[in-house]
Amino acid sequence: MERCRTLVRPALVEAVGLLHPWTGEMAAYALGWTGPAGTPDPGASEGKGVRQALAVLGAEGVGADGADAVPGAVAVELVHTFSLLHDDIMDGDALRRQRPAVWKAYGTGPAVLAGDALLAQAVTTLAETPGRHSAAAVRCLCRTLNALVAGQAQDLRFEDRPWHGPGAVGPEQYRSMAEHKTGALLGCALALGAVLGGALDHTVTTLDRAGRHLGLAFQAVDDVLGIWGDPAVTGKPVHADLRRGKKTYPVLAALARGGRAAHELAAVLDSPRPLDREAAAHVAALVEDAGGRAAALDEACRHLDTARRALRDASLTPTAARQLDGLFTYVLDRTR
Ligand code: IPE
Ligand code: MG
Ligand code: MG
Repeated sequence: MERCRTLVRPALVEAVGLLHPWTGEMAAYALGWTGPAGTPDPGASEGKGVRQALAVLGAEGVGADGADAVPGAVAVELVHTFSLLHDDIMDGDALRRQRPAVWKAYGTGPAVLAGDALLAQAVTTLAETPGRHSAAAVRCLCRTLNALVAGQAQDLRFEDRPWHGPGAVGPEQYRSMAEHKTGALLGCALALGAVLGGALDHTVTTLDRAGRHLGLAFQAVDDVLGIWGDPAVTGKPVHADLRRGKKTYPVLAALARGGRAAHELAAVLDSPRPLDREAAAHVAALVEDAGGRAAALDEACRHLDTARRALRDASLTPTAARQLDGLFTYVLDRTR
């Protein structure tokens, strides 16, 4: 990931430098490069850089030079940053990477605009990439943007759905939501690397599938970290999903298992009273007792296995295949 970050960094800095200075300042803050108002911030932490690494390794995996994937890596990092800016507004989350979310630091209107600027720059970056793969790359990104919107729509609409009984969110609906909101962009990262590296269509499709399953594993782990993660490490609020009624895998799985803890859990979740800190901690304990945490980690392992199998089916060059496998493992073992 460090090697890929170093390879991609100059082009990412250049892309952010093309933004209007104010949106560029917010983008630099969101990327963890500066503090608010563009001041140096030695405590700021950057994202993990999973998506840019997937793009670079996708190109290397199909026998191309990692540098060929750089515009794709830039595009997916910009889209990822954009989606987090807007997501924190939608989710009402005030904290991201240990610091105030952009909408808290700059205001909601400016944060929406900064997200828009990042999105526009992502598409521009690919559209202006020289060579014969640019149009295919833009198509790939645009499909993903539509998927992202669909996933966020599902995620938000699910907040108001009941926890059980008629109208409850089933496991397949959860998976569809997670595949759209998280899997699509991870699939796109790998696919873009392959597209820009000149891969055949079936390799691109297989890598996209690998990334989607990686995304499903990633989201199940994200759901777990949202309940049992340490905010000092994740940099995000804990129990925020529970309090908003987000339909996360551990809770859905706990309810589906039945038994004493699941019944008590259902009763607490059905109460119209908003969950305070203590009640949220109690819900977390009940979800764990009912087996929801273990079930979510099982779900993540299953998708990781499927992602690995797709990776093998893509017949990549050995070094990139090994490095991708390591990156896939990291997604499951991560603590932030
Ligand atoms: C993130 O979904 C998906 C997108 C940003 C499109 P979440 O809302 O589940 O992710 P976190 O926990 O805020 O990072
Ligand atoms: Mg969120
Ligand atoms: Mg969200």
